Amino acid sequence: MLKTFSCLLALMTVCAIASAEPAATFDPTSKVFRLDGGDASYVFGVNSRGELQQLYWGGRLASSDHFPQAVPMPARASFDSSYTNTPQEYAGWGAGLFVEPALKVTFADGNRDLVLHYDSHTLTANGADVVLKDIKRNILVTLHYAIDPDSGILSRSATIENREAQPVTIEQAAAAAWALPPAHYTLNYLTGRWAGEWTLTQEKLDPGERVIESRRGSTGHQTNPWFAIQSGNSDENHGEVWFGALAWSGSWRITVEQDQLDEVRVTGGFNPFDFGYVLHPGQSFDTPVFYGGYAANGLGSASRLLHHFEIAHVLPHRIGTRDSAAPKPRPVIYNSWEATEFNVDEAGQMALAEKAAALGVDRFVMDDGWFGQRKDDHAGLGDWYVNQQKFPHGLKPLIDKVHALGMDFGLWVEPEMVNPDSDLYRKHPDWVLNFPGRPRSEQRNQLVLNLARPDVRAYVLSFLDKLVTDNDIAFLKWDYNRNWSEPGWDQLAPAEQKKVYVEFTRSLYGILAELERKHPKLEIESCSGGGGRVDLGILKYTDEVWPSDNTDPFDRLTQQDGFTYAYTPQVMMAWVTDSPHGLNHRTTSVTYRMLSSMQGSLGIGANLAKWNDDEMATAKRLIAAYHQVQPTIVQGSLYRLISPRNGSEFSATQTVNHDKSRSVVFLFIHSTQEERLFPRLKLNGLDPAAEYALTSIEGKAQAGTPATASGAWWMNHGLDMDEEFRGDFLAAAFRLDRR
Ligand code: GLA
Repeated sequence: MLKTFSCLLALMTVCAIASAEPAATFDPTSKVFRLDGGDASYVFGVNSRGELQQLYWGGRLASSDHFPQAVPMPARASFDSSYTNTPQEYAGWGAGLFVEPALKVTFADGNRDLVLHYDSHTLTANGADVVLKDIKRNILVTLHYAIDPDSGILSRSATIENREAQPVTIEQAAAAAWALPPAHYTLNYLTGRWAGEWTLTQEKLDPGERVIESRRGSTGHQTNPWFAIQSGNSDENHGEVWFGALAWSGSWRITVEQDQLDEVRVTGGFNPFDFGYVLHPGQSFDTPVFYGGYAANGLGSASRLLHHFEIAHVLPHRIGTRDSAAPKPRPVIYNSWEATEFNVDEAGQMALAEKAAALGVDRFVMDDGWFGQRKDDHAGLGDWYVNQQKFPHGLKPLIDKVHALGMDFGLWVEPEMVNPDSDLYRKHPDWVLNFPGRPRSEQRNQLVLNLARPDVRAYVLSFLDKLVTDNDIAFLKWDYNRNWSEPGWDQLAPAEQKKVYVEFTRSLYGILAELERKHPKLEIESCSGGGGRVDLGILKYTDEVWPSDNTDPFDRLTQQDGFTYAYTPQVMMAWVTDSPHGLNHRTTSVTYRMLSSMQGSLGIGANLAKWNDDEMATAKRLIAAYHQVQPTIVQGSLYRLISPRNGSEFSATQTVNHDKSRSVVFLFIHSTQEERLFPRLKLNGLDPAAEYALTSIEGKAQAGTPATASGAWWMNHGLDMDEEFRGDFLAAAFRLDRR
C-alpha cells in the first residue's frame, strides 16, 4: 500500500496524488463495500438476508485487511428482533424496527411496511451508488456514497424513487444513518438562542434517544445540524471522534440513539415533524447530504479536518469553476448596521465610507434601511426599490464614492420576507405562508413569503438579478429575520401541502444557484438575525456567515470557540463594534475588540464618526497587521489552546498555515484573579526542527524570550507572557515566521 496512514494535513494533496489505491472497492465474494480516505476507513456489506449492514467506521485499515460477509445481529430475545438489532445503512420502517428508520412511507393501499434489500450498485470515482429495493414493491432507494481522499470525510445522501402505479407518501426520510459499536461515548452538539448562539453542549451518551432538531422552517439558532461523538477518554487533543454535519437549511433532525444493546445510531435528514411528501408514480426524491468523518486526535483534529474539507469541497469557488482555486480570504468589511441602524442616507454613508477607507477596509456594506418606505422594522420589506428620500440619485453616487475610496460595495437584503405594510403585500397578500381563514402571526412585523411558489420564486430572483445588474454590487448580506408560523401552501391539495418544508429550501438554493450562474463574482453572506442559518447546505452557495447579532467582544470569544467546532474561521465574520457594548454594557478597549474579531474574518461595525484619533490609529495598525497574516488565521489549522468556556480566566487560539511556515497566536485575559499570570502557552502544529522568529502584533512576551527558537522550543517549552499582562479584558497576539 503506497498510501501512508499518517498523511498530515500539510501534505494532503501530495498524499492523495501518491495514493495508488481506489477510494472505493466492492468484493463480490464477501459482498463488502470499502471506502478509504485520509486516515479513515468506512466498510459496509450485503448481509445474508440481503440488508445493507454497516461493518466498520474508524481509523484506516490496511488494504490487505478483509471482512467476511456481514452477518445480521441475532435477536437477543423475542422483544428485540434481529432486524432492529442489525445496524443497517438505511433501514426502512417495517419488519419490527424499533430504532429510528431512515425511511418511513405509507402506500396508497394503506400498507406501511417497507423492507429494503440490496439490488445493485455502481462504483464511482470516490465512492459508490448502491440501489436498495423493497422486498415486494417497486420502491427503490439509491444510496450515494463519496469519500474525500484527503480528509476521509464521507458524503452520504439518498434518492427515493416510486415505480409503483400509485402515489407513495414519504413520512420520514433521512440522508443517512451512522452506527457505532457499544462503548462509553460523549455527545457534543451546538445550542443557543438569538444573540447567544454556539454553546458547545457536552453530555454522556446514555440509553434512549437525544433529538437535536429545528422545526422552524430553517436551520435555527437553537441547535445546529452538527454533532461529534467522542470515545470515553477523548478530549480536545486525544482520542477518537466521529462527527457529522447535515447540509440542509430547512427543518432538520438528527437523532442520536443508544439502543437496547447499547449500540449507537445517528440518523439525520428532513425533520419528520409535520412532514409529508407525496411521491407520484415515476417521481424521485433527493435527500440532503449528511457528511460524516472520523478523527483520531480529539475534537481539535475533527474540526481541523472539517475546516479544510469545507474550504476545499463545500464553499463556492468563485473564480471560474467550483474546482478552481480555493476561496480567497474574505475582504475586511465595514458594515453600517450598529452605527446607523435604519437611518441610512447618502451623506451619512459617504462619511462612514471615508472613515472606513482610512482604516484600510476593503469592502463597504450598507445594511438595512435603504429601500421602500423603510424607516424602522414596521414597513418596506418586499419593496426592493431605492428609497428616494434617503438616496435621491439612487445608489450610484454612494457606490461610485466607495469605489473611488478603493473599496467594493455590498448591500443588505432580506428577500424571503414581507412587511404587511408594503406595496408587495398589498398587491399579493396570498404570497405568504398561511392557512386561509387563520391568523397570520407576525414576528418583527413581518411574514414569510412562500418561496416554494413558482411565482414568488420568480419575483425574488428577478428583483435580485435586477438589483445586481443595475448596480455595481460585489456582495449581498442576505438576511432572514424570523421563523415560520402557519406553514400552509393553499395553492396545493391538502395532501400535498406539507412538501413546503422541502420545496421552500430547494427554491432558496435554486435562486442562489441561478444568481451564481448569472453573476459568478457576486459574493453572499448568510445571516438570520445572526447565526440562525448556518449549515453546510447554505454554505455551498454563500461565502460567509454572520455568526451572531451579539458583537460583545468577550461573549464572542466563547461563541467563536463553539462556532469553530463545526465551521471554518474563513466564514466566521467578526465585527468590531462600539464600547460600552449595548448587550452587556461592558467597556473594552479597541485593541481588545480588534483582537477578538481578528480570530475570524474581520469586519468593522462601529460608528466611526465617534472614534477618536487614537482609536482610528490602533484599528488601522491592526487591520494592516491582520491583512499580512489573514490566510493563516482563516484557512490554516486551528488549535484551541485554552478554551474560554466554563468561566476560564484566560483563553488562547493558534493557527498554523498549510506548509507550517507561519503561525498566529491570540491570547486573552478575561479577568485576572489572585495575581495569577497568564499560563505558559505551549504551541502546537509547528515543525519541531524548523526555526521560527517571534514577532509581536500586540503585547509583550516575557523579557528573555528568544527572538528565534525551534518549533520544538515553542511547542515543548512554550511562550511566557510579560508579567504586566494582568487585568481585565486584555489581549495580545503574536506571529511566528519560519526562518
Ligand atoms: C438582523 C441582522 C443584523 C442587521 C439587522 C437589520 O438582525 O442579523 O446584522 O442586519 O437584521 O435589520
